[in-house]
Amino acid sequence: MITQELIIKFLRHNPSLSVLSVEKEAGLAKGTLSKAISGERNLNERHLSALYPVFSKYGYSPTLYENARVISIINHKGGVGKTTTTGSLGEALALKGFRVLLIDMDPQGNLSQILGIDNPEKQVVDALLKQDELPVIEISTNLHLAPSDIDLAKAEIELIISLGGVSRLKNKLVPLMDKYDYILLDCPPSLNALTSSALIASKSCLITLQPEISAVKGLNSLLDRIIEVRSSWNPSLEIDGIVFTMVKKNSVHDGVKEHVRESMAQFRVFNTEIKHLVDFQKAQVEQSTISKFAENSEAARLYRDFSEEFIQYLEVVK
Ligand SMILES: Nc1ncnc2c1ncn2[C@@H]1O[C@H](COP(=O)(O)OP(=O)(O)OP(=O)(O)O)[C@@H](O)[C@H]1O
Ligand SMILES: [Mg+2]
Repeated sequence: MITQELIIKFLRHNPSLSVLSVEKEAGLAKGTLSKAISGERNLNERHLSALYPVFSKYGYSPTLYENARVISIINHKGGVGKTTTTGSLGEALALKGFRVLLIDMDPQGNLSQILGIDNPEKQVVDALLKQDELPVIEISTNLHLAPSDIDLAKAEIELIISLGGVSRLKNKLVPLMDKYDYILLDCPPSLNALTSSALIASKSCLITLQPEISAVKGLNSLLDRIIEVRSSWNPSLEIDGIVFTMVKKNSVHDGVKEHVRESMAQFRVFNTEIKHLVDFQKAQVEQSTISKFAENSEAARLYRDFSEEFIQYLEVVK
């Protein structure tokens, strides 16, 4: 069936659906649904029964949100906005009301540091090497983190040599799948066993790309690794697409973006481009997420726009 909570979640996932027309189609008094969304009233059994067939028509099913979508943010080139995208996209989704878990899969621990967590006592490596569950810290409402620091580097060799080592992360996510809407994995700048573990655990991957020619040249190795992971471990791994990061207004960036859109036409390139803006660096110095640092900045707005575009795309491919 359907509950008030699931209705609100479905509407968040489908921002183009008009509340007014849904109310009308379900034969409810004007304002019934919008008041339930704003918390001013509760829907009763009669309302829910009337809404269920209407939402079903628009793609709702009772099992729709049973599992989190697990997404690796990847590019083996260093410094191309993976961590910033993981933190900022995660924050934007959490602000929309989705439950988000961020997992720091990089021994540099940059994601944990941005979120204010230095030298975490319990961290991802403990779950990968011992019987521990993944440690989860609440960062803010709806936004949680499984942190890491340099100790994670110890896990790499163990993941390679032990039987099924690269599948451990996937197994550790199982008990968390019904607790989150999105689980975002911040990958290290390398095609190593940590990146493979992330890709094996993921439904899909999102590639961050700085429009520099050197960044584009490495894309083929990245695609080869994705194909390898698909053929050996995770046949249904999808590529969500490419998001341009640190974009500058100059002829080189314009040219590379055009080249990528033409030569990688098989991939979605998201329309929202993340500009090169100093606020991202300032937020990092403050160990802050971008919206907490400057809610009304262009930098924060760009990731809010991107999160909007991203969830709309996910609704289409689901
Ligand atoms: N859009 C942006 N504009 C300006 N600076 C940015 C932007 N995005 C990220 N940065 C800065 O660039 C640096 C690298 O970004 P980030 O850490 O997100 O990249 P990364 O791909 O995760 O790096 P690594 O490969 O080392 O993990 C950081 O100092 C970050 O603050
Ligand atoms: Mg990083």
